Amino acid sequence: MDRLFYGLIDKLVLAMQDLRRSQLWISVFRHSQLPQTQADYLAMNRRSFFIHILPAQIHRRSLRSSYSWLWMGAISWWLFVLLTISGIFLMVYYVPSVERAYGSIVQIINQVALGRFMRNFHKWAGELMVITVFLHMLRVFYTGTYQKPREFNWILGVFLFLITIFFAFSGYILPWDQLGYFATTIAGNIARGIPFIGPQVQYALLGVHEVKNVGQVALSHWYVIHVFLLPSLIVLLISVHFWRIRKDEFSLPPEEEGQGS
Ligand code: HEM
Repeated sequence: MDRLFYGLIDKLVLAMQDLRRSQLWISVFRHSQLPQTQADYLAMNRRSFFIHILPAQIHRRSLRSSYSWLWMGAISWWLFVLLTISGIFLMVYYVPSVERAYGSIVQIINQVALGRFMRNFHKWAGELMVITVFLHMLRVFYTGTYQKPREFNWILGVFLFLITIFFAFSGYILPWDQLGYFATTIAGNIARGIPFIGPQVQYALLGVHEVKNVGQVALSHWYVIHVFLLPSLIVLLISVHFWRIRKDEFSLPPEEEGQGS
């Protein structure tokens, strides 16, 4: 049994080595070997897109779990990726119509292969992302890294936090159950309270001038907000967020800043 297992691992390692040497791999990743020296790494960082999006150098201390609060920023990112995958799965079966929305979710849970798992995963991961983004924001605040030179990234982050909350809120509406219906009317009333442009924002969100007329148009608006507007906006802002992290470099714990590596 052991021989079979280790034989398989050997084969896998050899196959991986062959793949890394293949032209296909080199054309995409622009390197075939792991870097041996710092000069190798810097050259690779210039050539490969996938390495280039990471900072050229990073202090081991910046990556400590105690400093980044269990890598909350990275966890938020991976939750977003998994939410996108499970969301696309749900989109295939969900029907954004006031008559059929709730039924389509019941159908996803009871009749679609993997449906119950995907639906529950999407719901819980969405709630978890609100918590992880909030903890990440708290860590940035607590360690004072919202200050120069990362103040622009902090502002971007505040928008990311608001978008994340808006994402979770718009998701609540889509089943069009009692919770969804009343969440829509509450959102409409809150929007109406915005000074000067309240009625216009309310109309943009609900598609009607009176909250009592909320119906199909409101659901369609929230569907577009949840599956198109917010995803496009968050992808754009996360890209700039990551680009800024690369440019500003990862911070160090305040007491170790400026002490060298
Ligand atoms: C979708 C939401 C977000 C994602 C995916 C995300 C991702 C990340 C990642 C991966 C890092 C680098 C590692 C780390 O420090 O954990 C980071 C750093 C940072 N984030 Fe976020 N973030 C998000 C939201 C926010 C929010 C809400 C804020 C603040 C309002 C924020 C402000 C910052 C700042 C200032 C840094 C640099 C921190 C440093 O170098 O110490 N981010 N983010």
